[in-house]
Amino acid sequence: MCCNSKMAATQLVCVDDFEKYACDNLDKHTLEYYRSGANEEQTLADNRSAFKRYRLRPRFLHRDVTNRDMSTTIQGQPIDFPICISPSGLHKLVHPDGELATARAAASMKTCMALSTGSTYSMEDVANAAPHGLRWFQLYISPDREMTKHLVRRAERSGYKGLLLTIDTPLSVRRLSDTKNKFVMPKHIRLGNFMVNEDTKDYDFNASASNLFDAALSWKDVRWLKQFSSLPLIVKGVLTAEDAIEAVNCGVDGVFVSNHGGRRLDCVPASIDVLAEVVRAVAGRCEVYLDSGVRTGTDVLKALALGARAVFIGRPALYGLAYDGEAGVRQVLEILKSELSLAMALSGCACLDDIKRELVVHESHYLRPKL
Ligand SMILES: Cc1cc2nc3c(=O)[nH]c(=O)nc-3n(C[C@H](O)[C@H](O)[C@H](O)COP(=O)(O)O)c2cc1C
Repeated sequence: MCCNSKMAATQLVCVDDFEKYACDNLDKHTLEYYRSGANEEQTLADNRSAFKRYRLRPRFLHRDVTNRDMSTTIQGQPIDFPICISPSGLHKLVHPDGELATARAAASMKTCMALSTGSTYSMEDVANAAPHGLRWFQLYISPDREMTKHLVRRAERSGYKGLLLTIDTPLSVRRLSDTKNKFVMPKHIRLGNFMVNEDTKDYDFNASASNLFDAALSWKDVRWLKQFSSLPLIVKGVLTAEDAIEAVNCGVDGVFVSNHGGRRLDCVPASIDVLAEVVRAVAGRCEVYLDSGVRTGTDVLKALALGARAVFIGRPALYGLAYDGEAGVRQVLEILKSELSLAMALSGCACLDDIKRELVVHESHYLRPKL
């Protein structure tokens, strides 16, 4: 837990300020669990530096940009702006209201929150905390298919509007810092989706979570899930055109470009570097989303110009939660929303449809100028 030296909200003016707050206030083990990446953290670092390798090409005086409309839809559901919250586990580590607070913040900002399987509150409690909010449920397909089916049916019953299937985790992975820190879930924290409950016949986490990942998972299972549930199915963790095409051929409704915030296989490319290839491969057959390394409004603008329907943030929401619960997450979303709005105005865009591919180029365009 944190907040022993809370800075005034006005001192936190960008997402990096929230990270700094977390660095100064969270205990070492929690901070490193949230902040670290896999192995040498090459991908973690590249997620940030890659965004800086793209340049914006603003056009002036073509449009009235007095008002900017950032509203859009994802999977047919309206959101006020295209910045949503990625699934991440264990929100109670930094705030007692955990995912309830995150869900309330997302709902009050009229955007989408994806709830992790590893949530510290149950998906039903999170749904009840923000009944009008838009939520997706993040899923791993377990070798125990009955457990998977049970989670999916619960998500359907409690009003989740999408299933976000994470495909980049065939095995449970431990980062170096977590190993050094001997990081374990504190005793007061439980995984809410696996509590034993007589009414719902929920699973006991200890019996089931070690069994959460299926190293034998294949695209056949993605087809099975698509048949099993009528919810839109979005596949998270796609990093190649080839897998994007596999996903589309399975009938998925969305492809989510992500390297899990640099927390899975190290040395994979930054998501933003993969986005154009995936968008080309998908060729408009479903929506494409992106996360990993989004920290500023210009990052969002670049991803939208390269073809993302919306972007998602992982750690920034956790840092906001650590700062001030629901209000902290809301403040992070507000900052990114207003940064995007300003970046749109400054580049000549009044609505999301005005954000065209030509708005962004790789820096190499300027390193070898055609004179
Ligand atoms: C602490 C933490 C826990 C996470 N847990 C999950 C998870 O349970 N399921 C999942 O699909 N992704 C998980 N992720 C990855 C996020 O969904 C997302 O891909 C990543 O955080 C995006 O990168 P960013 O943090 O740079 O925004 C987690 C990330 C963090 C930082």
